[in-house]
Amino acid sequence: MQKDLGNYRKSYEKSALMEDCISDNPMQLFKTWFHEVEASEGVDEPNAMTVSTIGLDGFPKSRVVLLKRFNHEGFIFYTNYTSEKGKAIAANPNICISFFWPNMERQVIIKGRAEKVAENLSDGYFESRPKGSQLGALVSNQSSVISSRDQLEEELRKLEEEYKNKEVPRPDHWGGYLVKPISIEFWQGRPNRLHDRILFTLQEDWDWKMERLAP
Ligand SMILES: Cc1cc2nc3c(=O)[nH]c(=O)nc-3n(C[C@H](O)[C@H](O)[C@H](O)COP(=O)(O)O)c2cc1C
Repeated sequence: MQKDLGNYRKSYEKSALMEDCISDNPMQLFKTWFHEVEASEGVDEPNAMTVSTIGLDGFPKSRVVLLKRFNHEGFIFYTNYTSEKGKAIAANPNICISFFWPNMERQVIIKGRAEKVAENLSDGYFESRPKGSQLGALVSNQSSVISSRDQLEEELRKLEEEYKNKEVPRPDHWGGYLVKPISIEFWQGRPNRLHDRILFTLQEDWDWKMERLAP
């Protein structure tokens, strides 16, 4: 029998987020949190993040992708540029990415602008992928309607044969996006629903403003 969802209740007690204990640079704080999550038990893919775009149909859409790199400039993920999200980003580069790390009772929400990374960066990452994933990128016209799974597997078999003794070139339609943040919110669960929410907003002089939000 299904549990009454109203009975799912949890008190968040693992940590706190206080202004006097954190960096005034959100990228530094993200790095600290990310490494703490990586080192913690019970998280399979700490780099899994939800990317939300505004689609050509005017609706927001969210899906999970993997963060592959972050630095002072922003956050990089790889995908198909002609996918639904690729088309959405081409029309409107303002996107949102978010992480939920339940084992640490933490959430991070980043608003930013997405831009394609330099081709040599996409080449380098594509080359580092296993051959099966490279062929998968080649074979899949991501987000298009296909007639069957068999069709996909048949095309993969053909490509496996074609590239048996050859390197797989990165297709032009596949590469990375760098998301340059304009705001980053850190959420730490606390008891009694009085959670900590610290919002950093990028200012015109490239400094970050830090504010506390009501939970
Ligand atoms: C754990 C996980 C990781 C994923 N990583 C990626 C990724 O790095 N890049 C990607 O294009 N899709 C990834 N996907 C698939 C996407 O969620 C999505 O199905 C795909 O990108 C097509 O999205 P779109 O049609 O909205 O463009 C991942 C899905 C999951 C559940």
